[in-house]
Amino acid sequence: MDVSGKKAVVFGGTSGIGLAAVRQLAALGADVVAVSRDPSKATDLPDGVSTMACDVLDRDGMDELLAACAPIDILVSSATGGSRAIGPFIEMDMDGYQASFDKLWGYANVVRYGTHHLTDEGSIVLVSGTPAQRTKPGQTSLGSVGAAVEQMARAVAPEIAPKRLNVVSPGQIDTPMNPLEGEARDKAYAAATANHVIPRAGKPDEVAKAIVFLAENDFATGTVVHVDGGWILGS
Ligand SMILES: NC(=O)c1ccc[n+]([C@@H]2O[C@H](COP(=O)([O-])OP(=O)(O)OC[C@H]3O[C@@H](n4cnc5c(N)ncnc54)[C@H](OP(=O)(O)O)[C@@H]3O)[C@@H](O)[C@H]2O)c1
Repeated sequence: MDVSGKKAVVFGGTSGIGLAAVRQLAALGADVVAVSRDPSKATDLPDGVSTMACDVLDRDGMDELLAACAPIDILVSSATGGSRAIGPFIEMDMDGYQASFDKLWGYANVVRYGTHHLTDEGSIVLVSGTPAQRTKPGQTSLGSVGAAVEQMARAVAPEIAPKRLNVVSPGQIDTPMNPLEGEARDKAYAAATANHVIPRAGKPDEVAKAIVFLAENDFATGTVVHVDGGWILGS
């Protein structure tokens, strides 16, 4: 797919990985809509990118938004969806563990309602996370949800062909999701990535390049592209 002139809708497109994808798609000439619950928070969107407000858990709102944007060529979701439970499973707050799956339900809504509004050559890209492949202690919820996202894509891709559905799996990425600042932030990333093959946090742009690759590549569907600095292979 030549992205130039194509209509792209990016849920979670106002921050971090989604914002980087918005910027790259816009730079390639796509007509991009960045969506989040409160897009007014986004201060650095490129000129020409429009914004819309929607919670990915609001099915009616999402269906309306997608219908208003149709026909859509590229649909991306990196919207985190809800809160995440971190910590040892045996001590885990079970409501928190269940709430972690809001990311899956948000992505499921994007695929379920978005497919209807996608062109036949259209492409959907979701964002999972490396814990789906290699879950460190305390990351049971991240690993379970990420694996569910990837399996949903493998299950649904054949059903929606010729429309395509793929997943990018990022490792530790430096985004506003991390509330720490300054030295504490640097130390946290250094500790989290010390045993990775590339021992640093990744940049949102490095993940966005994989999102664009999957949107453009007409021969890729039902697959996962890993951009994780070798987290999976680390000691
Ligand atoms: N950063 C990492 O290290 C990392 C690693 C592995 C996987 N990931 C995954 O990558 C994805 C993007 O992460 P990020 O680091 O780019 O996060 P981020 O910078 O916090 O951005 C999250 C985006 O999602 C939107 N969002 C959150 N909940 C939403 C909802 N219910 N409905 C609509 N929009 C919603 C946010 O905007 P509003 O607040 O305005 O809604 C924001 O635009 C997530 O799925 C995350 O799990 C991240």
